[in-house]
Amino acid sequence: MRKKIIAGNWKMNKTPSETVTLINELKPLVVNEDVDVVFCVPAISLTTAIEAAKGTNINIGAENMHFEESGAYTGEIAPNMLTDIGVKYVIIGHSERREYFAETDETVNKKVLKAFEHGITPIICCGESLTQREQGVTIDFIRQQIKVAFLNVTSAQAKTAVIAYEPIWAIGTGKVATTEQAQEVCKAIRECIAEIYDTDTAEAIRIQYGGSVSADSAPELFAQADIDGGLVGGASLKPDFGKIVNYNK
Ligand code: PGA
Repeated sequence: MRKKIIAGNWKMNKTPSETVTLINELKPLVVNEDVDVVFCVPAISLTTAIEAAKGTNINIGAENMHFEESGAYTGEIAPNMLTDIGVKYVIIGHSERREYFAETDETVNKKVLKAFEHGITPIICCGESLTQREQGVTIDFIRQQIKVAFLNVTSAQAKTAVIAYEPIWAIGTGKVATTEQAQEVCKAIRECIAEIYDTDTAEAIRIQYGGSVSADSAPELFAQADIDGGLVGGASLKPDFGKIVNYNK
């Protein structure tokens, strides 16, 4: 039985001091022993967030990371900078990073490999555009993203990975994919993992749905056979996130 994992993606929101306030507000609301809870916060707030979440069930994750160990990459964050302060998770290849910061399937793969090398769990994002969905190429496109993201990743590593399926047209739009659409793609992702590795790996890997997840839509989405939780943007900044984490109560 896979444990659900529900992660908040704060994106470029909340200052370090606002981070403390929000974590203090959310901490009593996000207790659910059936779920791994992760708050992915801006890099500048990671240390503060880790401090604020001490002694709670909240894990802190980063929203991005570089694939090199160190060097002349002005403005970037290296993997050992994250592990040094106790960061456990990192979002890799979010569609906003692909769109605005030129991330590609290849850089995603390099970052995924680096994250594993440093013992950080990657939350690997994939998802089609509205055009791709309308053209009927969603599954082909997602399979390509997954296959490249997992190049040279071992089966033991893949078993611990988290994949976030986020249709781009559903992000921040209030337009949630139907449970059937979300389940169909998450199932296809699991089948793709089974092809690359084996059934054991496919059964172990956790696949989230993301894109306008709300307290209302979470229970039905997370009840799907291949959906193991969610990556939540807007609603993760509100007390509603507590309801999402407690979707099964
Ligand atoms: P949203 O964002 O929940 O605001 O649609 C999800 C995401 O981008 O991870």
